Amino acid sequence: MITLGIETSCDETSIGILRNEKEILSNIVSSQIEIHKAFGGVVPEVASRIHVEVINKLIDLALEEAKVDFKDIDLIAVTYGPGLVGALWVGIMTAKTLSLALNKPLIGVNHLEGHLFANFLREDPPKFPFIALIVSGGHTEYILAEDIGKYRILGQTLDDAAGEAFDKVARILGLSYPGGPEIDRISKMGKPIFNFPKIKCDRELDISFSGIKTAVLYLVNDLKKEGKEIPIADIAASFQKRVVEELLERASLALKKFNIKTLVVSGGVAANSYIQERFKEEAIKEDFKLYIPPKELCTDNGVMIACAGYHLYKKGFKSTTTMAELAERRTTEFSAIVFSLTTKSLVRIAP
Ligand code: KG4
Ligand code: ZN
Repeated sequence: MITLGIETSCDETSIGILRNEKEILSNIVSSQIEIHKAFGGVVPEVASRIHVEVINKLIDLALEEAKVDFKDIDLIAVTYGPGLVGALWVGIMTAKTLSLALNKPLIGVNHLEGHLFANFLREDPPKFPFIALIVSGGHTEYILAEDIGKYRILGQTLDDAAGEAFDKVARILGLSYPGGPEIDRISKMGKPIFNFPKIKCDRELDISFSGIKTAVLYLVNDLKKEGKEIPIADIAASFQKRVVEELLERASLALKKFNIKTLVVSGGVAANSYIQERFKEEAIKEDFKLYIPPKELCTDNGVMIACAGYHLYKKGFKSTTTMAELAERRTTEFSAIVFSLTTKSLVRIAP
């Protein structure tokens, strides 16, 4: 079975082609980062326009690389949300068009679910139930994944997403966008000598990054006022350490609370070297199974959407392209965040 996955939720246009559950035939990612860099962040209208410009070409390239033809495609999977509405629309309309033209089924995938399934593109995929930590530019969530399509959000960020915090702190330190990889890189040259405050939230599995971010800002401003040099690498390393320790602490707590021995980490921030190092250490120490995708599958890509779509489809989930089916049906998924224009026009129906 061949699944074509389309991802356009933010600033990456990506097409992935998957054979059965895990054979990646192609996964082409066209990043707009260089264009948005000039603005210090993603400009939604610009993102949509670039998706429109490149998507058809990317589909051709992905098919060519996969050595398959349109007629070989059995299923079309597309990110329906959450994300930038205009950007999502480009992928959704492309998917609907392909589905109608090829007369092949269509499945809408939640972007976070896509990130989660990036961990299934391997020989020994995680087994349900597991705890998932999704850390991306838009989300930070602890999830109890009970089965395919059945997730419970256990805790989440109360303000910025982890990736957003990395990006904002990088900007305070004068590093370029996106800041996550920059902080990761520069931290290797520094030492975590600054003690940023611990995060406190009312609910034990919630997290918040505004305190650390403000602490970094005050530190930099104070040093500037005193006319001192800013030890960028040391501040970056200290910030990164604090954030990773906090993420890990809650992940360990969630595992213990639900008596689960499998932790699945995904999303762009999962590409962070220190996350990978610390979580691996902890998995050995605390004896749990840790899944983190290879770096290229941590950030947004089409094949993770294809993979999630494949599993959902096999499980009996379906999508409709009509306006008639509204999002109220979707109660067990990450539905709180997805009631938008896009979800109204592409809804997934549970089996
Ligand atoms: O998952 P993703 O590609 O897009 C969203 O769904 O948001 O995540 C992008 C985020 C950005 O905030 C970026 O700075 C962050 O992931 N990121 C990293 C690293 N690589 C990407 N953060 C920390 N360390 C990294 N190595
Ligand atoms: Zn993402």
